[in-house]
Amino acid sequence: MSIPQLPRPSAPLHPVGLRLEGRRVVVAGGGTGAYRATVGLLASGALVTVVSPAVVPALEALAASGSLSWIRRCYAPGDLDGAWYAVTATADQTVDEAVAVDAERARVFCTRADTPDASSAHPALPDDEVPLFRDRPGGRVVLVGGGPGDPGLITVRGREALSQADVVVVDHLGPRSLLARLRPDVEVVDASKLPRGRAMPQEEINALLVSRARAGELVVRLKGGDPFVFGRGMEELLACAAADVPVEVVPGVTSAVAVPGVAGVPVTHRGLTHEFVVVSGHLPPDHPQSLVDWSAIGRLRGTVVVLMGVETAPAIAAALIRHGRRPDTPVAVVVEGTTGGERSLRTTLEDLGTTMSEESVRPPAVWVVGDVVQLAAAAAEPTSVDAVSG
Ligand SMILES: C[S@@+](CC[C@H](N)C(=O)[O-])C[C@H]1O[C@@H](n2cnc3c(N)ncnc32)[C@H](O)[C@@H]1O
Repeated sequence: MSIPQLPRPSAPLHPVGLRLEGRRVVVAGGGTGAYRATVGLLASGALVTVVSPAVVPALEALAASGSLSWIRRCYAPGDLDGAWYAVTATADQTVDEAVAVDAERARVFCTRADTPDASSAHPALPDDEVPLFRDRPGGRVVLVGGGPGDPGLITVRGREALSQADVVVVDHLGPRSLLARLRPDVEVVDASKLPRGRAMPQEEINALLVSRARAGELVVRLKGGDPFVFGRGMEELLACAAADVPVEVVPGVTSAVAVPGVAGVPVTHRGLTHEFVVVSGHLPPDHPQSLVDWSAIGRLRGTVVVLMGVETAPAIAAALIRHGRRPDTPVAVVVEGTTGGERSLRTTLEDLGTTMSEESVRPPAVWVVGDVVQLAAAAAEPTSVDAVSG
């Protein structure tokens, strides 16, 4: 059988938008190129299958959360069966070529990361994302808080920084779908720290920021939420300052406030709560390295917001009750807030551990303790007009 002709690079492109929701798309490769393509595909609702013997931590996190299927081996003929579209970004020209040829034969449009111009499909940047004038202010680091996940919740300044970046160093949380909109020449580095899993050491991240900025590049360090809320942003800022690398901080919308907020739980409410405290739950209360005064927090009347506290939830709930919080205090758990996978649950402090395990709650999740949680339920109750009409 003759090898099908790949598209002529010189022919003009026909601009078209693909409706991929619910459609199978295959991504060959597991590096940051594959990750960039994948986040854009997921944002379009595609059913993504990644084929690669190894993947970067950010892709691993998506596979673990069930957002995509991961076939842990090299690409093989037949992998494109049933696919509407394919992306190949394996960093191995022979494999990329094989995927492109198979796709051509099967009449599946295919984007090759190594040679976009020779691809049958060429991802386009939305018009409003194409930077018309690009000044190159390089040689510095911008620490950008990306917000909790919805790409609309990054600041305008954060978007500007991304549109000018040479390198973007990312975490697995935050507005990852924005990566799909970066110019193709922008390098993405995966610096994810998976909960109790793979993690790029902080010293390595610091050194990377410094070395790339010193090489004259504009480095955007894109973080979930706000860089200074359990984000190790200050460590990165200090490392840059020590190396005389200029740093700009672009604050972000923190998940501690925004994630409960979108689920209808305000962290304060007039006449009900005059305080809220945000606590890291990454260590259980009896851990020797814990810096949290759980007895003080247990005595609070106000709102307690816990981040990184899925695994430790039963131990923390028990400590709060032991130190004075009522066992029937309402609790809201919000998982993957502001994203397509958002889920919220209501329970009480004494039932928190059981609810978390029965509902198979996995990170990222924020849980909120306090009377403010009841307001969400009150807001959801039908008004008398709804009740009559409904
Ligand atoms: C390392 S902390 C970083 C917090 C981040 N700097 C911020 O301001 O939101 C990660 C934790 O934030 C919370 N988190 C971040 N994004 C979230 C989201 N979209 N939904 C639920 N929780 C989220 C989870 O508790 C997660 O374990």
